[in-house]
Amino acid sequence: MSADALLANLPAMNAAADVRELAKAFRQLVWRAREVELLRVPDRLAAMRDVGMFLSSLQRHGVEPLEAVPEATDMLLAWGLSVDMVPRDTVLHYGVWNPAGKRQRMFLGDRQENVLIDAVRVGTMLIDEIAPTLAGLAQLHPRDVAFGEICHAAADQLETLPEIMNDVYRNVDPVKFYASRLGPFMTDVVVADRQYYGPAPVHVPLYLIDRLVWSSDHGDADLRYFQNDLVRYGLPQWRRLFQHTERAPSLVTRLVREFDHPAGPPATRVADAMDGVIRIMNGLVTFRTTHNLLAGGAYTDDSRYSTGTAGVSPGLLNHILTLTRDCAQYARSRRTGTRS
Ligand code: HEM
Repeated sequence: MSADALLANLPAMNAAADVRELAKAFRQLVWRAREVELLRVPDRLAAMRDVGMFLSSLQRHGVEPLEAVPEATDMLLAWGLSVDMVPRDTVLHYGVWNPAGKRQRMFLGDRQENVLIDAVRVGTMLIDEIAPTLAGLAQLHPRDVAFGEICHAAADQLETLPEIMNDVYRNVDPVKFYASRLGPFMTDVVVADRQYYGPAPVHVPLYLIDRLVWSSDHGDADLRYFQNDLVRYGLPQWRRLFQHTERAPSLVTRLVREFDHPAGPPATRVADAMDGVIRIMNGLVTFRTTHNLLAGGAYTDDSRYSTGTAGVSPGLLNHILTLTRDCAQYARSRRTGTRS
C-alpha cells in the first residue's frame, strides 16, 4: 500500500484504536524508507511527517511506539540529525509540511482538525517570513524612515494572527475536541532514552516575534525558561536567530532610548516607528487573549493534561499574556506626550 493510502486510513485506524494495524503501517513505512535513499531534504521531512503520524497515534493508544517498532529509532535519529531538528514529528510536519487538500494527513479526519492544521500552517509561515525582516532592523537606525515602514508593514501582516485565532475560537471546541480528542495525539514520545514533546501548536514560533519586539529585555526567568524549551522544536535558523538575539536590545528598548535622548524629543518618524511596534504588540495581546480563553478549557484537573502537552500550566500562559500587555502599555506610555 502506498504512503498516501496508509495515511488515508489513519483516521479509521485511530477511531477503532486498532494498535495492531497502526504498528503494522508504522513498520511498513519504516521498512520502505530503509530501502530507498532519501537524498532530498523535502523527502526526509515528508517521511518524518508520515512516520511521525503513526508514532503519535500509537502513543495516543497507550503503546510506546519505539518499543513496538524498535527498528524505527535509528531512522528517526538520522532524519533529525540530517536537518538539525528533533528526531520526531513536530508541528511543522503536521502543519506547514502537510499537503493541503486531498492528500492532507490527519489523525482524526475531523473538520475541527482541519481548522487547526490550517491555523498552524498559516501562523507558522507568517512568522517565518516576518521574523527575519524584524531581525534586519538591527542594521537600521530607529530614525531611518525605513525603520518605521518595516514596523508598520510587519504590524499589517501580523493582523492575520488574531484573525486566525478568531477562526479557531468560532470553529473548535477546546474541551470536547482539543482536550478530549486531538490533544492526546500530542503527548511525549521516548526516542533513544530521551523524551520529546508532540506536534502541538505551542511550537508555532511566536517566541521569535516576542524576542525581537519586546521580550529580550522585558521578559523574566519564567518566560525565558519556557522559550528556551520551545525553541528546540523549531527550525535551525530560528534557533540561530533566537540565540543571536539573546542579549540584543528589543525594538521597544531601542525606540524608548530615542525618546530619552539628551538632545531632545525624537523626530516624528521615531514616534511613527513606535506606533508600528505598539500595533504589533496589540496584535500579540489580542491573539493571546482569545487563545488563552480556549487554552483554559483544554486543561482538566483529573488528567495528565492538567499542565498541557508541553508541561505548561494555565498560570504560565496568563503570565505571558500579562508580560506582553504590560510591555505594550509601557511603550504606549513612553510614546504619549512626544511631538508627532
Ligand atoms: C482549541 C485550540 C487551542 C487550544 C485549546 C490550545 C491550548 C494551548 C495550551 C494548553 C497551551 C500550553 C502548552 C501546551 O500544553 O501545549 C498552548 C500554548 C500555545 N499555543 Fe495553543 N491552543 C490552541 C490553538 C492554538 C493555535 C491554533 C495556535 C497557533 C496558530 C496556538 C499557539 C500557541 C502558542 C504560541 C502557545 C505558547 C504560549 C504563548 O506564546 O502564549 N495554539 N496552547
